[in-house]
Amino acid sequence: MTYESWKNIEGKDVPSTSGFSEKVLEYLKPNSVVLDLGCGYGRLSGFFASKGCRVYGIDINENAIEEAKKNPELKDIEFSVQDATNTNFENNFFDVVVSQAVFACMDLPARKKLISECYRILKPSGILCVSEFGQIDENAKYEEHAKATGEYGTVIVKNPDETERFRTHNFAKSELEKLIEEAGLKVLSYENPDFTTISGNSHPGHIFICQK
Ligand SMILES: C[S@@+](CC[C@H](N)C(=O)[O-])C[C@H]1O[C@@H](n2cnc3c(N)ncnc32)[C@H](O)[C@@H]1O
Repeated sequence: MTYESWKNIEGKDVPSTSGFSEKVLEYLKPNSVVLDLGCGYGRLSGFFASKGCRVYGIDINENAIEEAKKNPELKDIEFSVQDATNTNFENNFFDVVVSQAVFACMDLPARKKLISECYRILKPSGILCVSEFGQIDENAKYEEHAKATGEYGTVIVKNPDETERFRTHNFAKSELEKLIEEAGLKVLSYENPDFTTISGNSHPGHIFICQK
């Protein structure tokens, strides 16, 4: 299940700060078919289109896709509202799937479905790039949040009036490795740069490039 809050955020307010690995460029060719999975308002979709790729962007949030569709700079991209855990793409369709901070938006059963769906829609030898926020060294904070969320690492980010803004999972490296391995993907590279949160704080990140 995707955490409910993600469906209602206004398009331009979708948090969009996870780091992107330029290493993906090594795997892109002109005409590569690329999916920006959980694309939000299309922050990165245009970048892939500028490299000559045929780009699709999907998101579960209708507001975000509307925002992306009305951006004239993104007019060559095929955006659609879709649940990334169960898409309408054919098997073996994409050369590259890029997933930036999307596994974080859902519970563990949905994360497993999502990675299986990535595997299904990737061509043989296709590339999956997964970028997610990691965990900071504050056990007490995560334990406190887990009382409400039910999972260590899942935190609730609040609005100034204390209502829930969104729920997101901060990953231990091993959690992502397990998902990737169980889906039958091979890790080609791993980086752990610092990302910037929506509050402007530095936060550890994970970037895996994997191959089907
Ligand atoms: C943290 S935002 C990142 C947006 C974008 N990837 C970026 O980096 O700019 C996560 C995005 O994943 C989308 N998302 C969450 N669950 C999804 C699902 N099941 N199917 C498709 N999109 C989903 C959210 O609506 C949101 O736009």
